[in-house]
Amino acid sequence: MSFPLHRPRRLRRTEKLRNLVREREINTAGFIYPMFVCPGTKVRKEVSSMPGIHQQSADQIVEECREVEALGIPGIILFGLPETKDPRGSSSLNADGVVPKAIEAIRKTKLKLLVITDVCLCEYTDHGHCGVIEDGEIANDHTLEILAEQALTHARAGADIVAPSDMMDGRVGAIRAALDQAGFLDVQIMAYAAKYASAFYGPFRDAIGSAKALTGDKRTYQMDSANSDEALREVELDIAEGADMVMVKPGMPYLDVVRRVKEAFGMPTFAYQVSGEYSMIMAAAQNGWLDGEKAMMESLIAFKRAGACGVLTYFAPRVAEILRRSPP
Ligand code: PBG
Repeated sequence: MSFPLHRPRRLRRTEKLRNLVREREINTAGFIYPMFVCPGTKVRKEVSSMPGIHQQSADQIVEECREVEALGIPGIILFGLPETKDPRGSSSLNADGVVPKAIEAIRKTKLKLLVITDVCLCEYTDHGHCGVIEDGEIANDHTLEILAEQALTHARAGADIVAPSDMMDGRVGAIRAALDQAGFLDVQIMAYAAKYASAFYGPFRDAIGSAKALTGDKRTYQMDSANSDEALREVELDIAEGADMVMVKPGMPYLDVVRRVKEAFGMPTFAYQVSGEYSMIMAAAQNGWLDGEKAMMESLIAFKRAGACGVLTYFAPRVAEILRRSPP
């Protein structure tokens, strides 16, 4: 190809032409909306570092789910803010806990949303780590037992998909075995397969109230941001253990990983556009430093280009509304 025979700008001349040759599309069918459920009723408290995102009691979650479904968003992922936290995250096994209660409340309605639950200890431990601590270390195998039980608690309440986000070794296998043994053969596992130790989770830790509690960091179990060969090994293990879908997290800083994972395994591959990614765009937009709507759309199409079939994003309702107003 060479100039002047080829002039790439010819295809960019008009909106019609640009639409005609567009390679990718953002579609609402690929969004999962994260939600934070807290105890009580009629509670709806904005997370200060995440404008537009709330900690909500189950009744309010149900109300927002109605809007989410009406917008054509297929699913939500629930994170729990329990009444009590302790070193072993015991409240995560409570059948009357915040997450099971919210699932049941959604199930009582006619809503057909896919209900996904985050399976992890960090929302339930007083130290904010994703596993139990024994002899000063995050104890992998003892954590697995709790995670498997937690996944069962969610499945019994009616979760469609469980999403382990802890990064313990062997957790997908432990959860699959527990689900199968209890007869939940159709409950799917969306594994946070390549999850990095990231500064971009900052606002999320405000949202679940673990920011102050967390001592140290998560680098003994979450991945080193310098590595992507390791991501392939992690994903391979999760698939071998029974993951139905795999996820890369965070999203935008790790698009190369999304692409490699998709190409290597051809599995349904998701990206999590995490709290920090959301808050950066929101903060810059609120300051008038960039066009928030355009930056949001541009960030989301990037996941499609990288090969993701879907994105977990706090922007889901906002984008869905835009797409409804003016379909691509
Ligand atoms: C729990 C979990 C985290 C996120 C999802 N699940 C935080 C963490 O690992 O510290 C982050 C999500 C976000 O930042 O939006 N393990």
